[in-house]
Amino acid sequence: MSFTVAIDGPAAAGKGTISRAVAAHFGFAHLDTGLLYRAVGIRALEIGRGIIAPDMAEKVARELTEAHLQRPDLRSARAGQTASRVAALPPVRAALLDFQRRFARRAGGAVLDGRDIGTVICPDAEVKLYVTASDAVRAQRRFEELTAAGAQTTLEAVAADLRQRDLRDSARDIAPMVRAGDAVLLDTSELSIDAAVTQAVAEIQKRL
Ligand code: C5P
Repeated sequence: MSFTVAIDGPAAAGKGTISRAVAAHFGFAHLDTGLLYRAVGIRALEIGRGIIAPDMAEKVARELTEAHLQRPDLRSARAGQTASRVAALPPVRAALLDFQRRFARRAGGAVLDGRDIGTVICPDAEVKLYVTASDAVRAQRRFEELTAAGAQTTLEAVAADLRQRDLRDSARDIAPMVRAGDAVLLDTSELSIDAAVTQAVAEIQKRL
């Protein structure tokens, strides 16, 4: 029997942390779908020597393997920006669709986090959460995450990066970032990680 938890929301709202924690709690598999777009973006940029050719991005997406998701540079702001550019290309999204749907329907339960999981990838997911937080809180969290990892950046630069990416993600024609009508809203602005995870676990528990 499969059981799918779809977790969407903007960057740095806490989706990743919550997804990993609930997957561990219930023993479900977890897929961070942002990594797929990050890997496609970074490889397409390398092959195109700094220029993203849509055809090449599609080819990269079709040939993406698990190994490509292990690259250490996928968490950088550059990878995030490139991801949001290739993510607006319909053939790239089409190429990644089957893999995500198969993952969602695997036996034993799955948590997928991204932007369009509850709306496009798994509209029939058993549980849908839309995780968000204020712009200021998200920028502060991502800034702390990046500087802890050794990146040289400023809070203003991080805030501008998130704003630009969120705008592109919510304004695109295909699979825009939007809360599904039946998704439970989880605003983590004022919540500790533990409190947010507890709420997410409770929502899932209700439907198990
Ligand atoms: O979640 P993360 O910040 O790693 O995602 C990077 C980018 O990938 C997002 O800004 C978005 O453009 C794209 N993305 C997407 N659909 C998903 C997951 C990520 O369009 N399901």
